[in-house]
Amino acid sequence: MIDFTNLPVRKKTYAGANGSKISVLYNDELYMLKFPAVPTINKEMSYANGCISEYLGCHVFESIGIPVQTTLLGTYTINGKQKIVVACKDFTMDGLVLQDFASLKNTIIDSAHNGYGTELSDIVKTLEEQSAIDPQLLIEWFWDMFIVDAFIGNWDRHNGNWGFLYAPKTDKITLAPIHDSASCLYPQADEEMMQKILADPAEREIRIYDRPLSGIKKNGQKIQYFKFISSLENDDCNKALKRILPKINMNEINKIIDETPFISDLQKNFYKTMLCERKEKILDFSYQKLQKREQSLF
Ligand SMILES: Nc1ncnc2c1ncn2[C@@H]1O[C@H](COP(=O)(O)OP(=O)(O)O)[C@@H](O)[C@H]1O
Ligand SMILES: [Mg+2]
Repeated sequence: MIDFTNLPVRKKTYAGANGSKISVLYNDELYMLKFPAVPTINKEMSYANGCISEYLGCHVFESIGIPVQTTLLGTYTINGKQKIVVACKDFTMDGLVLQDFASLKNTIIDSAHNGYGTELSDIVKTLEEQSAIDPQLLIEWFWDMFIVDAFIGNWDRHNGNWGFLYAPKTDKITLAPIHDSASCLYPQADEEMMQKILADPAEREIRIYDRPLSGIKKNGQKIQYFKFISSLENDDCNKALKRILPKINMNEINKIIDETPFISDLQKNFYKTMLCERKEKILDFSYQKLQKREQSLF
């Protein structure tokens, strides 16, 4: 167990609306410590499970082979109270600057909406028209992220929660590792709610087919992951589904969950069950539908 309480604190600060953050040196490397946010939906909880969600979400991305920030779970004691925190290794070393997708979207001069607007058609237009990164690479990155976010139930992949690393000296830009997965895996569910959801298939269906919604909108409405992916309406999304699904290894993911510190057996069971069912009902279902459609074309 890592105790982050008495580490040297640095003056680097971080934005973001979901809870306090400080920077510390751990093993001579800079980390952003994220503290648990106050729950906004479930007022019964003393704090939301966002730190666990951040850790698990990032480890799922890693297990699929997508570059992601390094995350560690540990404790931090304030005023005699011990909190579970997640440490995210700062990837802006060597003078690299994190530029979010919203700022890239701002470079598209005739875009109808501002950088933080998450209408899918505007996002796609930016992916195609921007000149910082090979458009094909960027389109694939975006849709791979979309499929994994659907799997882990992330409702907050807005344009400030992914981006690029810019090197001012060389003017080079690369994709930043995945970060901010704190809004995946039902961070506002407490143990009582987890138990209720595990006991009742109808409760699970709502949380697989209907909720959470994506942070991205189509015609002004937040996208329903199941409806959108299973409609097979977007070819880049279909291609990402074909790329990502074979890389999801549930044994490996269950092992990650089993080895996660601080969480109860009930919580482990909850995460394993929801991921298993989200994979089957959203991704496997859509993949099979896609295969049938492709076979029928021959
Ligand atoms: N690993 C990281 N290294 C450097 N900067 C980061 C890292 N992760 C996030 N950030 C920056 O810190 C901000 C806040 O972090 P984030 O995880 O998005 O918090 P929140 O959950 O409050 O939105 C991000 O918008 C990004 O600019
Ligand atoms: Mg954020």
